Amino acid sequence: MLLFGTQRILDNGHLEVGGCDAVELARAFGTPLYVVDEELLRTRMREYLAAFRGLYPKVAIAFAGKAFLCTAMARIVEQEGLNLDVASAGELHTALAAQFPAERISLHGNNKSIAEIELALDSGVGRIIVDNLLELERISAAAGARGVVPHLLIRCAPGIDPHTHRRIQTGQDDTKFGLNIRSGAAMEAIRKCQDDSALHFAGIHCHIGSQLMDASCHEQAIEIMCAFLHEIRESTGVEVEELNLGGGLGIRYLEEQNPVSVEEYARAIVTAVRGGLARYGLKEPMLGQEPGRSIAGQAGLTLYEIGAVKKVPISEAPGYRSYVNIDGGMSDNPRPQLYDAVYHAFVANRANEPADTSVRVAGKHCETDILIQETRIQAPETGDILAVQGTGAYNYAMASNYNRIPRPAVVLARDGSADLIVRRETLDDLIAQDIIPERLAKTPAGNTN
Ligand SMILES: Cc1ncc(COP(=O)(O)O)c(C=O)c1O
Repeated sequence: MLLFGTQRILDNGHLEVGGCDAVELARAFGTPLYVVDEELLRTRMREYLAAFRGLYPKVAIAFAGKAFLCTAMARIVEQEGLNLDVASAGELHTALAAQFPAERISLHGNNKSIAEIELALDSGVGRIIVDNLLELERISAAAGARGVVPHLLIRCAPGIDPHTHRRIQTGQDDTKFGLNIRSGAAMEAIRKCQDDSALHFAGIHCHIGSQLMDASCHEQAIEIMCAFLHEIRESTGVEVEELNLGGGLGIRYLEEQNPVSVEEYARAIVTAVRGGLARYGLKEPMLGQEPGRSIAGQAGLTLYEIGAVKKVPISEAPGYRSYVNIDGGMSDNPRPQLYDAVYHAFVANRANEPADTSVRVAGKHCETDILIQETRIQAPETGDILAVQGTGAYNYAMASNYNRIPRPAVVLARDGSADLIVRRETLDDLIAQDIIPERLAKTPAGNTN
């Protein structure tokens, strides 16, 4: 069984997380429920800072808010001394509402609206990561009108092919993200930025993909980025202040997966950066990192209540399959549908029993809402609590109201107490934005069928 952070199995067979009995959490807060292990979250943040700072002191680690953001999370990131990446006005608003210092925020996005750019400038964010030339023009105009000079990183597409699911690759040539290095688009943006007195060119950025099991693809990207730093110096005379390599380190969702540790990852990144800088005789830039999943992923789990357990004949072979129906699914975790994500699960109220029953875990939505295609868990019964591990990143953040299902609550567990950090949506929340136009308010006489 995969257990992370403070998780352990109590004598009564219940899962404990953050010193709280998970089964009691499910009863107290309802299901589905996202539970966040605060200690593990903070430990991962500290590991990142310690691992990189120990090897390369000029480093800035930002948590990628797209993985998991709410106001309490922004407070934890702030307390731990990490910076914060946001990718929309909504994420920026969340961070600002949590009193996150604006100068430690970077704004991302491949199609920032003018309103998002203006909000970023008005709130004084520390960095804007520029995705394209139109955006550069828009930032220049908005900054000029305000008399502020924003610090910009140019997002580059280094043109490498990371070995991860095609839907979470971002560093290849054929990508919607950033400006291509090989085609000269990235250099054109840098020149425009340097020639514009309303803008400050602060550095270059790349993010090559997500859920990467080691740093080998990052190493290729670093080689290309260092060569580009050299090219920038040769053609513009500027030593670039900042080199940001994005995030991407993967986590263990299943027992057979073995991603490198944060320490190993940091060592590989720093060795490659130092090697690249030395090769071209470059000064050490500020090194930026933007981990999301590897900080929040394992710190979260989702608790569901098991409803009907159905045995159905299998079409391709003799025998039966057990479908375990849970009270959530693709509205609280769309990742299996989006890119075949895999998860480890077990029965949280009988976790000390053998996981000897092969099941398919089915969500409650229409479509093919299967959360886990095949796994072995303790013999499931209606009313059991199913724990799904590793849902701390890109789960709550990607949740929707599909089938008009209220989004679950999030609780933060630590030292035996659990605090609600996002309340469960109510049925009234679901209709709070709905409007019935006057002309639909009444049914015309005679139309009663
Ligand atoms: C620009 C950028 N930075 C950082 C991240 C975080 O990546 P991960 O959660 O894989 O660490 C992403 C994820 O898509 C991203 O697009």
